[in-house]
Amino acid sequence: MSEAVSVVVLSGKGGTAKTLWQHTLAGEASRAGISTLLLDVDPERNLSNRFHVPAHSSGLGTVLEAAGVTANEGDAEAGAKAVADEIRSTPWAHVDLLPAGASLNGVSQVAVPDTWLLRDILTIAGIYSRYDLVLLDTGGRTGSLATLTMYAADVAYAPITPTTDAVLKAREARSRVERIQRAHPLRWAGVVLTGFDLRTSVDTVIRDAAFEEFGDEIRAEVPRRVTVHEAFQLTERLGDRTDVISTGLAEIFREFLRRDLMGVANSKDGVIR
Ligand SMILES: Nc1ncnc2c1ncn2[C@@H]1O[C@H](COP(=O)(O)OP(=O)(O)OP(=O)(O)O)[C@@H](O)[C@H]1O
Ligand SMILES: [Mg+2]
Repeated sequence: MSEAVSVVVLSGKGGTAKTLWQHTLAGEASRAGISTLLLDVDPERNLSNRFHVPAHSSGLGTVLEAAGVTANEGDAEAGAKAVADEIRSTPWAHVDLLPAGASLNGVSQVAVPDTWLLRDILTIAGIYSRYDLVLLDTGGRTGSLATLTMYAADVAYAPITPTTDAVLKAREARSRVERIQRAHPLRWAGVVLTGFDLRTSVDTVIRDAAFEEFGDEIRAEVPRRVTVHEAFQLTERLGDRTDVISTGLAEIFREFLRRDLMGVANSKDGVIR
């Protein structure tokens, strides 16, 4: 059985559509029959909330506590033992969720010296061999938890939304990936543009700046459309919506997933599927 492709979404804090992208990609993976684990690494638990996980629930925080991070230890075996209890199914076929858990906020304050700890936990728990795809949603902050997450991933990308600092945030994300590449071969898959309304001049200006900075590192673009927002808010798979706008946009997410995130790592014969 081949190993999962593990994908982290980066870029700064605050509504840059990280969760929306991981959520929508998971919906397309579900529709394509790709066995997927969504992992909520954001102490604010937005992704877990989408799937109606109660606020007091256990989750990744519990796993890291079991590994001893709050006691300044790093026992990956003990953490791995706790993983199975925390994974839950979702209404989406082939998609499971490991929620953040109420204690992740506390855990995120702790400095973890072993940057490989989360990867080791997931490896020992068999996550990379059990799934085809692992999607990690970060809260966009830096610090130990973000580092652990980047080490647990194989591929990184960053969304750019039409806010004035979005290009800067994506540039910082790329720099973080470059720095980590000295120790871990995290592949930079580039950026995606999302939520731009080209009838708005400020959006056009920011989009031009993004093209200037990233050029052909821009791997996909999804314009601002109500249906994208609604599917995210209602925890629906975008491609299930029957109107042509939704199905067309779902295809953009699906293409990006297959070609830019899973394609390279999954192709054994050089053919990107
Ligand atoms: N293509 C699009 N069409 C419509 N709305 C969009 C599109 N792209 C992004 N958005 C909007 O951007 C918002 C992004 O919110 P999201 O929770 O994904 O951000 P985030 O980066 O995860 O934030 P945080 O840093 O708090 O985790 C969505 O609620 C949605 O309204
Ligand atoms: Mg988020």
